[in-house]
Amino acid sequence: MSHAASMGPVTLVRHGRIGLLCIDHPPVNALSVATVAGLDAKVAAFEADPALDGLLIWCAGRTFVAGGDIAQFDAPGFDAAPYNRILARIEASERLVVAALHGTALGGGLELALACHYRLALPGARVGLPEIRLGLLPGALGSQRLPRACGAALALDLMLSGRMLDAEAALRAGIVDALATGEPLAAGLNYLEDLLDRRAPPRRLSALPASTAGLPADFFSQALLRARQEQARYPAAAAIVRAVEAAATRPFAEGEALEAALLASCVVSPESRALRHLFLAERQAARVPGVPAGLLPRVLHTAGVVGAGTMGRRIAMSLADAGMPVTLVEASGAALAKGLASVRARYEADAAAGRLRPEQVARRMGLIAGTLDYEALAGCELVIEAVVEDMALKQQVCGRLGRLCKPGAIIATNTSTLDVEVLAEASGRPADFAGLHFRNPANGGRLIEVVRGSATAPDVLVTAMQLARRLGKVAVVCGVCFGFIGNRMAEAYLRESEFLLMEGVSPVRLDAVMEACGMAMGPCRMLDVAGIDVSAKIVLEYGKAGGLPPDPAYRAVVRTLFRLGRLGCKSGAGLYRYPGGAAVADPEAERICRALGRAHGIARRTDISDAEIAERLLYPLVNEAAKLLEEGVASRPGDIDMVWTAGYGYPDYLGGPVWQADSIGLARIVAGLERYARLRGNPYDYWDVSPLLATLARGGQRLSDWVAPRPEAGAAPIPSAPGSAARPAGQGRIHPGPKPPQSVH
Ligand code: CAA
Repeated sequence: MSHAASMGPVTLVRHGRIGLLCIDHPPVNALSVATVAGLDAKVAAFEADPALDGLLIWCAGRTFVAGGDIAQFDAPGFDAAPYNRILARIEASERLVVAALHGTALGGGLELALACHYRLALPGARVGLPEIRLGLLPGALGSQRLPRACGAALALDLMLSGRMLDAEAALRAGIVDALATGEPLAAGLNYLEDLLDRRAPPRRLSALPASTAGLPADFFSQALLRARQEQARYPAAAAIVRAVEAAATRPFAEGEALEAALLASCVVSPESRALRHLFLAERQAARVPGVPAGLLPRVLHTAGVVGAGTMGRRIAMSLADAGMPVTLVEASGAALAKGLASVRARYEADAAAGRLRPEQVARRMGLIAGTLDYEALAGCELVIEAVVEDMALKQQVCGRLGRLCKPGAIIATNTSTLDVEVLAEASGRPADFAGLHFRNPANGGRLIEVVRGSATAPDVLVTAMQLARRLGKVAVVCGVCFGFIGNRMAEAYLRESEFLLMEGVSPVRLDAVMEACGMAMGPCRMLDVAGIDVSAKIVLEYGKAGGLPPDPAYRAVVRTLFRLGRLGCKSGAGLYRYPGGAAVADPEAERICRALGRAHGIARRTDISDAEIAERLLYPLVNEAAKLLEEGVASRPGDIDMVWTAGYGYPDYLGGPVWQADSIGLARIVAGLERYARLRGNPYDYWDVSPLLATLARGGQRLSDWVAPRPEAGAAPIPSAPGSAARPAGQGRIHPGPKPPQSVH
């Protein structure tokens, strides 16, 4: 093989009559400005070399091109047109051009392959146009070439869902032309040699029709209607339908022009910007500040879970779903039997719905070993305690685990609010200890907050991040404070929800306003679904720890409903009633809230606008986010957005509370917080503006751009999380301390 024509992310070497064009741009060969420039130059070199009969495009590393470089979409001069012109030259070549696909050929990567005359896929290769997940439509003529390869219906389905096809399915669909085993270079070379020997002609997708065989006449109009109704918050969906319709009904050049126009509007849409922000924030969250890159995780083959209640059994299911053997320990035979029966029932329901095969149910059940014997946990490399949210009980359990778990085993608590430092101390092995706060439902939810105590060993954090990935979840590392990131912010949100209820806003209206703001579920439904008892116990437990404000009206609604046995969905009534399972408005709940308002001297108001409801819930959320950043509990603004979009039903198309705050404008939010402090009075500091938020608002800066100050020179390489030991008074609490009342509610 001859030497490389020149170095850079794209190289061209000559191998006899074949040019070998290699893209080598780790980690995923994304199309950066440099990659596109390199491609341009190497395609030109191929065009200029008459000695070459064909060109093989292949990629080094783990994958074929996985798409355009998402980090560069906002760079000045980002433009798909130059790339499209290169693809047009590739397709127009009179000499054969072949792509050898391995890994994930996605977005601009698949579009590159579709411009080639033939495509070969290796085992494990997957193809897709996932741009919709970034609020975009394919912008390098994927919307025009894919329908011509596999028909309009499948192309539309792939683009609207963003799902991938494996190599075999792609072959059946006509998206790839052949499968082969081996390495992309050798297999691609063989394939191209064979095509040249057989004198296969260049096959240009742009010259072919897109099949609409068997589709009804109103296929596209119906698809457009559905996209506008069902994916109304994602404008790229309707754009995709229009582009595919053009592919099926108009000449290629017209479709090309339409795709370009639609892409131009999608790229600058707030939804796409928000979704791209979340894509990058999710990857950023995987980098734990202070943990050296390349630090190896601890070995993790088997896990234990203590407690077969709602959380414990679902955590066990999540581990078993990922193929990990789990020992599930309970204190009583009845509780264990109930937990295991519930696990089986859920798996069987999944099987009945076609989501699992019967043998998968059997395998997953086989991975969960229930026992009453704590000693069975001694061999596990990770044990997660998930007993009820009671500090004394959890301390006892953690102490026991610390004594019996083998050296090097990780001990974790699934507490949603309790002080992880205290539990780490109780275990006697704080370096091996961390919080793993699975969001409910633990097996279905996407989020795990990994809570880092002041002594948590860095390799414990690396192991926890790797575990989350294995479970298919997003992990965000945070420091210790009441409720961590998610529940601490939720507390501010729920506090204001309850005050609004006591001022006379009905649960139905409160939820409707917040759902119109995009929340997956309004706060009242959220409380009922999670269980009023769960919320009330958190409040009561935190009260015992001295963390609550001295405000008798604080969370009075959940505390009262709990006392009355109105536990939400599970008891048939909470803030709604549930006759037959569905939520219906409950005048009795409204009466209770109003009576509480009267009892606490909270004036009933009839002039509360929808805007006030939204602002009084969302602005404190942002304020609390800024406080979490100031305190160092959250490391990055994007981590907060990940927690709320992955775990708390915050709409992804708004990018999370911090991202949305920047869209609203920090100055407006600060002014709103100050306005509500005047309107509502501020005896308990609820409306105190975070100094960080105030400073950024004054400077016209964005909270999303905020970067934590670097640790002082000479500081420990693994900085301590801001745990309770080092926490300045008042930080990490709902209420920083008593303050003389200034006014009543
Ligand atoms: N642009 C920039 N970086 C990307 C990227 C992309 N399209 N895709 C992945 N990466 C980066 C990630 O940020 C991550 O970087 P770090 O290791 O530095 O954090 C690294 O590649 C590995 O990514 P993952 O952690 O996600 O690895 P994975 O193995 O779990 O998944 C993947 C790999 C399937 C490619 C996944 O990253 C993915 O789905 N990427 C997005 C693919 C996509 O949406 N492509 C379409 C882009 S839009 C487009 O292509 C339009 C156009 O050209 C005009």
